[in-house]
Amino acid sequence: MKIEQNYSLEKQNTFHLPVMARWFMEYETEEELQRILRDEYFQECSSLHIGGGSNLLFLNDYNGIIVHSLIKGMEVVEETTDQVILRVGAGELWDDVVAFAAAKEWGGIENLSHIPGEAGAAALQNIGAYGAEIKDVIQTVEAYNQLTFEKRIFTNEECQYSYRYSFFKNEQNDPYIITYITIRLTKNHHVFHTDYGLLNQALEGQRLSPAAIRDAVIRIRQSKLPDPEQLGNAGSFFMNPIISPEKYQQLKNEYPDMPSYPAADGRVKVSAGWLIEQCGFKGQSHGAVAVYEKQALVLVNLGGATGDEIALVAESIRDTVFSRFGVELIPEVRYIG
Ligand code: EPU
Repeated sequence: MKIEQNYSLEKQNTFHLPVMARWFMEYETEEELQRILRDEYFQECSSLHIGGGSNLLFLNDYNGIIVHSLIKGMEVVEETTDQVILRVGAGELWDDVVAFAAAKEWGGIENLSHIPGEAGAAALQNIGAYGAEIKDVIQTVEAYNQLTFEKRIFTNEECQYSYRYSFFKNEQNDPYIITYITIRLTKNHHVFHTDYGLLNQALEGQRLSPAAIRDAVIRIRQSKLPDPEQLGNAGSFFMNPIISPEKYQQLKNEYPDMPSYPAADGRVKVSAGWLIEQCGFKGQSHGAVAVYEKQALVLVNLGGATGDEIALVAESIRDTVFSRFGVELIPEVRYIG
């Protein structure tokens, strides 16, 4: 187990904000996690469990304990002619899992290629891209209750998944720390989702396979999204808003070109990136914070930005989009501090 005091979180958040944590703890096994949870000092302090830090906005130094999982491993726990069940440690890089599956020609997560972050956080956030979400393959999520220290194995249904949401994100529930996930992948009879946006186009003339789709998704992402190693960012800053059919009709009459997608219960998901671009923010910068020139949903740290500065730009985007369209943008990024 690693325990450090006054630890720089610059490498632990993809905005690369140079904030400090009072304590940083990293564990490699469930037993080590149990020891941390049962520690009296830990229980007295405020704490935050992080994954790859690809969805966090630190507004200040963190005056508490940052906890990070190094639980690794990808193990086939069940295999038939048609499918495999893979158990993955929460601390595995999510994209290593996708690369591993694609190399084996196992299907189900290829559309989720190249998403930064770790497997545990991917399951917590229900990551999604190109018409797929991790909830479509999650079999179980293994997690420890931070208050009772008990381990619970959640079924997919118990995770209560919906767009960028799960049981684990609801602050009304007891806090849980995810240690392993199991995912169900196809070996034959793959069902590919290639009808999202540019994916079909990028795959034209190719035989469909998990590896071919992975390559195409990576190409598209690289052409649209900034690499956090080069330009600090946290992917989509806001969620795509889901609006009522009446509100949608009103906007569609006024803006016939507005992109939209059907959502649950007759509601409609509209593109936050499009709304932001219409307001003229795309490519604009304010100090060291910019709205990425190729994708308006991404805020970038040009170098030296603070969390507060990023939050201010986000606030101004929210206000402008709301006064022009009457649509509320909700951050996907989690503010800390
Ligand atoms: N659009 C614009 N201007 C922009 C950006 C987008 O007009 O600046 C329009 C596009 O032309 C397109 C539509 O909005 O018609 C959707 O754009 P895109 O396919 O780029 O996807 P998105 O809805 O902006 C979502 C996810 C991404 C995911 C992509 C691809 C959310 C919040 N974001 O973005 O996820 O990669 O779809 O599936 O749902 C992330 O969560 O961090 C993330 C990057």
